[in-house]
Amino acid sequence: HKRPALIIADILMPLVDGYELVRRMHEDPELSAIPVIFYTAMYHEREARALAQQYGVRSIVTKPGTPDSILTAVGRALEAGGEPATSADHKGSGRDRVQAITSTSAPKVGVFAAGEQRLAAIVEFAQAINAEHDPEALLSKVCAAARDVAFAQHAVIGLLDDQQAATIALFSSGLDSKAVESLRPPDLKGSPLAVVVRERRAFCIDQPRDRQPWARQLFGDVATGSLMGVPLATATRAYGWLLLRNKLGADGFSNSDLAVVTALAMQAAIGYENARLIEDSRRQAAALRDAQDRTHFAMAAAHMGVWEIDLMTNVVTWSETLAPVFGLTPAQAPTTLDSFLRLVHPDDRPSFTEHMRLAVAEQKEFTIEFRGLWPDGSHHWVGGRARVAYDEEGRPARLLGVGMDVHHEKLLERQFHQAQKMEAIGQLAGGIAHDFNNMLTAVLGNANLLLDDLEAESPLRPDLDEIVKAAERAAALTRQLLAFGRKQVMQPIAVDLNAIVRDLTQMLRRVIGEHIELASVAAPGLSPVRADPTQIEQVIMNLVVNGRDAMPAGGLLSIETANVTLDESYAESHISVRPGSYVMLAVSDSGTGIDEPTKRRLFEPFFTTKERGKGTGLGLATVYGIVKQSGGYIWVYSELGHGTTFKVYLPVADEAPQSLAPVEPSARALRGSETILVVEDEPAVRQLTRVLLERAGYRVIPAANAHEAIERFGAAGGEIDLVITDVVMPGASGPALLKYLTERRPNLKVLFMSGY
Ligand SMILES: Nc1ncnc2c1ncn2[C@@H]1O[C@H](COP(=O)(O)OP(=O)(O)OP(=O)(O)O)[C@@H](O)[C@H]1O
Ligand SMILES: [Mg+2]
Repeated sequence: HKRPALIIADILMPLVDGYELVRRMHEDPELSAIPVIFYTAMYHEREARALAQQYGVRSIVTKPGTPDSILTAVGRALEAGGEPATSADHKGSGRDRVQAITSTSAPKVGVFAAGEQRLAAIVEFAQAINAEHDPEALLSKVCAAARDVAFAQHAVIGLLDDQQAATIALFSSGLDSKAVESLRPPDLKGSPLAVVVRERRAFCIDQPRDRQPWARQLFGDVATGSLMGVPLATATRAYGWLLLRNKLGADGFSNSDLAVVTALAMQAAIGYENARLIEDSRRQAAALRDAQDRTHFAMAAAHMGVWEIDLMTNVVTWSETLAPVFGLTPAQAPTTLDSFLRLVHPDDRPSFTEHMRLAVAEQKEFTIEFRGLWPDGSHHWVGGRARVAYDEEGRPARLLGVGMDVHHEKLLERQFHQAQKMEAIGQLAGGIAHDFNNMLTAVLGNANLLLDDLEAESPLRPDLDEIVKAAERAAALTRQLLAFGRKQVMQPIAVDLNAIVRDLTQMLRRVIGEHIELASVAAPGLSPVRADPTQIEQVIMNLVVNGRDAMPAGGLLSIETANVTLDESYAESHISVRPGSYVMLAVSDSGTGIDEPTKRRLFEPFFTTKERGKGTGLGLATVYGIVKQSGGYIWVYSELGHGTTFKVYLPVADEAPQSLAPVEPSARALRGSETILVVEDEPAVRQLTRVLLERAGYRVIPAANAHEAIERFGAAGGEIDLVITDVVMPGASGPALLKYLTERRPNLKVLFMSGY
């Protein structure tokens, strides 16, 4: 009458069972092509399946099959079309046996099967949520499980925002991909889902009379049929809602459906919460790792690390980045306090332990600088900072510290202090020397004048000679002090250091004696420097004499020159160095070497380790002053017992070197009758100059300063043949005076006279 496309039949039926139905269908040509599916609660499937196949049945779906399994079987059977799976052979001998078994066990099986299926689904679900740590994947699994457990056609889960006010994500099962795409979170307000979330109360609607907008948003036009909504919540927090639609095979969801799904949803919420916690802690662990990476990088870049001392056990823990600060690999890091302390310079150890003791006793944070001992025997400065960490009971438990490589900074700081100290001493010494110089000029000058006046046989002569000798010694000292204070009169020209060394060699050989070998290594093509050749001779001389004194038993003394470039990196480790081209002069000896305390005071005036009368301690001070005055640098490298090298760097001059022909003193007797204006602020020097000149026949007009000089010049007019003037004077200076005077008399002869 109306031929079906597919027949789904139970096996166990009164009067005519499934097999009989199929057999009879096959007898009717009209019906024989219609595919048949058995839908049965039979559990001994294998025999049943074999039998069914004999009868040409498409498939067997076990009751209560999941919606998916039923729909899949239907789809397959329809796709396959009219041809039976196999040619029907109804005379199967097993049929009767199966029927017999089936008929006896069917009542029990029918009852249990549904429960068993549900149980299986719940167990499977429980396993799934335990294994699933991705919160979103977990919610998708919950959808599928809830559908299976309750026999619903569709399941949707809505995930709430943190305020539990709006649905922010949906998960579903049983909806085709198109429907999933059009899923829109329903407005909670006014929908039963709001009650579900707010009051944690489930609801069941058997047949919604009108299609409610919220349900339509979810299911579109099929939003009819039964609905069940349950909260997805733990005891403390609601995460969302679970909605099931359309109970298959019944008009609505039963109370037991509701109970099971509610329990499942609660279980799911706990699973979801756990998954989120796990995800959170994973994220935190990753963030922690990132932070550790960053800290490690920062500490390594800053050459610092962290240490920890357990105050109970004295066990020491170092961060990986601390080891390089002590020249070690992380594997070599100390593990006990004793081995840690062995890495601290013995001189610094007492202070280190005392600081530790105080930190624990007085709960003070401390800062300390100490020398770390490197495996190669060198020491490197480490800056440390530490504080006590307490246990839960507030007792000191650990000492936490950071260590930082401050070697470079420390050296620069030292150099800086040294330079500052030298500057201050230089100012002082220079100032004193300047005054002394003036006085000594007067003493020497007047003594010499007296000597000139004395009879050759005068008994006063020996005493005067002594005065002159002592004054000359004092003047020599004063000159050295002036040099150190950079107040020596300097006549810099472009010179070739090689030429100076060459000219000095013979004299140096005599000075150092037979027991010391002298070697000089002159760099070819050495650049010229701008310096006062006499001063440079002084430098070489002082360095060589020091080298000699350091080698009482003989040795090797070498003088070396070279063109060098001091680059940025050199400038970085040597305070106040300007990068550029320099000429280096190195004086090395194989003598005693210089210890650390001596090294620190080396250039100080009057610092000497030599016995009284042997050294004045002005040698290196003079060298220092001259080098500085010439715009250069001096550094010392020394190893105890191995010798010392002093390196002097002078900036390269961009002029050709001048020859060093000495200026011969004039042999002509100095006599004259011209008029000379003498400008000098120091009365003793002015007076001496006046007497000297007048004795030589000159007429002298004295002036105490530039102001007076201008007055005298105006009054004496054209009589003045020469002006002798001091350079540095209170009021206008010598050069300023020169400018004024030569504007009035362009061809005026002027001589500068200066102690600087
Ligand atoms: N090449 C060197 N080797 C070892 N020690 C040195 C060397 N050069 C200098 N010193 C030390 O530095 C100190 C100061 O040297 P400096 O030249 O300033 O004075 P001095 O040599 O003692 O006396 P002066 O040079 O005035 O006669 C010396 O006493 C010595 O201890
Ligand atoms: Mg000396």
